Amino acid sequence: MAKIVLGIGCAHTPQLHTPADKWEIRAERDARDGVPMWYKGERLKYAEVLEQRQHLDLQAQTKMEIREERLRKSFAAVDVLAEVFARANPDVVVIFGNDQSEMFLDDIKPAFTIMGCPEFENMPRTEEQISRLPPGIALADPGHLPDHDRQVFPGHPDLARHIAEHAIRKEFDVSYSNRQFHPDPGRAQTSGMPHSYGFIYKQIFRTHVKPHVPVDTNTFFPPNQPLAPRCYALGKVVGEAIREWDRDLNVCVIATGGLSHFVVDEDFDHDIMEAMERNDFEHLLRYSEGYYQAGSSEIKSWIAAGGAMQDSGLVGHIVDYHALYRTPAGTGSSTAFMYWQ
Ligand SMILES: [Fe+2]
Repeated sequence: MAKIVLGIGCAHTPQLHTPADKWEIRAERDARDGVPMWYKGERLKYAEVLEQRQHLDLQAQTKMEIREERLRKSFAAVDVLAEVFARANPDVVVIFGNDQSEMFLDDIKPAFTIMGCPEFENMPRTEEQISRLPPGIALADPGHLPDHDRQVFPGHPDLARHIAEHAIRKEFDVSYSNRQFHPDPGRAQTSGMPHSYGFIYKQIFRTHVKPHVPVDTNTFFPPNQPLAPRCYALGKVVGEAIREWDRDLNVCVIATGGLSHFVVDEDFDHDIMEAMERNDFEHLLRYSEGYYQAGSSEIKSWIAAGGAMQDSGLVGHIVDYHALYRTPAGTGSSTAFMYWQ
């Protein structure tokens, strides 16, 4: 029978690969106040978030030397996860991630998709695609896209099919794909895999490329974002499927994304990591859906991965956590790194 031997939780924020002195590009957009942002379960305007957090003096944490130090430590934590992964040398990987309008545009956004493609390709953006991006986004491409040419990573259709069949038997009506979905390149911002997966290929797999199964959840986009308890339940079903898989293979489960952004909430993030460490899903599911919106919706991938690992006897380790603040209201991204072994 297959065995889950390793779990990894890894933030994939593009801010990590954006030079510290270029964070202002996004900071200006955050502070423009037109777009409400999610903070502690509520949708607020930038000025309201700033007002609520004035006492924290987050301005002091936007200094260049602090930004650079946190980036340095975050990269060191990514290195730790890459080493843990290389040492464990699993045979197969299941990645819980999310599309951010990279693979699925407005035509269709399936709630849950098990991807049973024989291979997945990733490629740099075209000049034309870069010209259509909001300012500052392409700067972070080295974090998740190939530097030069198209790259191809092996999938694992057997495991994907087994997971989908098991999920359906458990009355989980998942979507399934045999082939990587390529949206119209004239409308898409990229032609490869979503950055959620691209980050893992580049930063965790590195040269240890493994056959893998992306389990994609529409965490971001209304109206069909699965609720947190449903993500947890899917994770449980995926974990069961792996453990009942009649193959003598070692499996790694990865959560890619999170934690809180685009308003960073350190207390919330520490609470999430500690609950993940002690397998306390009752606690995680007590937060209202408002806490799991926008970038923070990616925490649902952690909850799903946690559900998958829960009965595998692995022990959680928090490697590191940093708040990458780019404005005095504390907007930006957080970087969180954990593993279970
Ligand atoms: Fe993301």
